[in-house]
Amino acid sequence: MKRVLTYGTFDLLHYGHIRLLKRAKALGDYLIVALSTEEFNEIKGKKTYHNYETRKEMLEAIRYVDLVIPEENWEQKINDIEKYQVDVVVMGSDWAGSDKFNYLDDYCEMVYLDRTDGISTSKIKSDLKLQAPINGVDQIPTSKDDKKQKAS
Ligand code: CTP
Repeated sequence: MKRVLTYGTFDLLHYGHIRLLKRAKALGDYLIVALSTEEFNEIKGKKTYHNYETRKEMLEAIRYVDLVIPEENWEQKINDIEKYQVDVVVMGSDWAGSDKFNYLDDYCEMVYLDRTDGISTSKIKSDLKLQAPINGVDQIPTSKDDKKQKAS
């Protein structure tokens, strides 16, 4: 059983997240996601739309994800690797150039996966903000509205 571990916030789940999780799972047999808590996100300067429990529930519904654990600080990684007998830690390619996680090389294999172009939680948030003044937040058409229009 090869165990893979990855870290992240996974707010406003999108296809960039799904592709990352799919590729991470393909590196082994069991995928653990350490999900940033609200307190840790505060330290990172992130404010999520969904709370921890909701983000966890959505991740647990994804077929590639076997276990979700909390990510509470920067220092927990060695402990996580030992506790969950992790073989591979996956990071987004945004970290590839930095030496921040080099110390983990002594504990497991490190894999940096390319991000999917053109999508991020921040982009979704700013795109929706741009639309809001034009349409009104409640009036952004949904696929249901689309069907209604086609039917009439
Ligand atoms: N990720 C990815 N491709 C994207 C966006 C994210 O592969 N387009 C990966 C990240 O590299 C990370 C994981 O998904 O390994 C979780 O990233 P997270 O920071 O939660 O998502 P972002 O969409 O990047 O969020 P934000 O815009 O708030 O930074």
